[in-house]
Amino acid sequence: MATNNKKIVIVGSSNTDLVVRVEHFPQAGETIMGSDFMTAQGGKGANQAVAVARLGGEAVFVARLGNDAFGEVTLAALRSEGIDTRHVTRTEGVASGVATITVDKSGENCIVVAGGANMLLSPEDIAKAAEEIRSASLLLMQLETPLPALIEAARLAHENGVKVVLNPAPYPKQPLPMELLQNVDIIIPNETEAAYMTGIQITDDDSAIASIRKIQSMGVKEAIITVGKQGAYTLSDNQLVRVPAVAVQAVDTTAAGDTFCGALCVALTKGMSMTDAIALACKAASISVTRRGAQPSVPTAAEVF
Ligand code: RIB
Repeated sequence: MATNNKKIVIVGSSNTDLVVRVEHFPQAGETIMGSDFMTAQGGKGANQAVAVARLGGEAVFVARLGNDAFGEVTLAALRSEGIDTRHVTRTEGVASGVATITVDKSGENCIVVAGGANMLLSPEDIAKAAEEIRSASLLLMQLETPLPALIEAARLAHENGVKVVLNPAPYPKQPLPMELLQNVDIIIPNETEAAYMTGIQITDDDSAIASIRKIQSMGVKEAIITVGKQGAYTLSDNQLVRVPAVAVQAVDTTAAGDTFCGALCVALTKGMSMTDAIALACKAASISVTRRGAQPSVPTAAEVF
C-alpha cells in the first residue's frame, strides 16, 4: 500500500501506569515486597499512538481522559510527542485510566487496568472524529475501550476504504462480534489471544497455519500472530511466513505488543511489504523490551529504520 498518506488514526485507551518490580508474582492473599516504583505513560491506545508518532507516522488519537491530574499530565505528554489530540476528550468527575503493573525478574508482567474515562469512549466520539477517520491511511484499535465505539469506527473506516488494524488485547470474555471482525483487514493477536479466538494452541508451524486460517474464516483478511521472543507468524499467498524476533535481554515486556502494532502500521504506510513490515515491527518491539516502562521504552525512527 504505497501511499503519501501517513495519517494513522488510533482509537483507544490511555492509562497512567504504576509500575513495581517484583522477584515473583504474588499468590492470592499474599503480600510481597517490591522495588523500583515508577509511574509511566501507558494504555494500549496511547502506547500505539506514541509508537506511530516516534516512528514517523502522523498520529491522530481518539480517546477519553478524566479532568484530573493524571489526565493533565497525559494530555501534555501526548502533545509533546506531536500526536494530534483534538479528539482526546476530557470528562469532569471521572478518573483517568490507571494500570497497576508488576514486572518480574524475566521482564514478564501482570497488569490490572481501572479503565475510568476510557470506558466512556462512545460512537458519538467516533462521529466527531469521522473526518479524520475517512481521510486516514489506516485505523488502529485495541480492546481497552467499549466495543460500540470500535464497531462504529471500523464500519466508518471500511465504508471509506480505510484499512482497519485491530490488536485484540485484552481479549474479552465473549467472542468478538462479527459486526466488528467483518470490517477488520489486519488482526494482530499474540498467541494467547489467538488461542482464545480459535481454540487452537500454537505449538508449531501447522498449528500456526490452522490458527490463522480459522481467524480468516471469521471474516478478517489477514492475521499476524505475535509469539513473543520467537517473532511473528502470518500467511502470504497461503504459505506460512515466520519472522524471527531480534534476540535481546528483556528487562520489561510492557508495551512490546503496542510497539509492534504501531511500527507495523507506519511501515505499511511507507509501502513496505507485509513481511518487511513485520520484520521492522519485531525489531522495534525487541528494542522496547530492553527498557523499563510502556511509553518510555518505545524506540524512535532513528533506532529502527
Ligand atoms: O500494553 C501495555 C499496556 O497495557 C500498559 O501500558 C497498561 O496501561 C495496559 O493498558
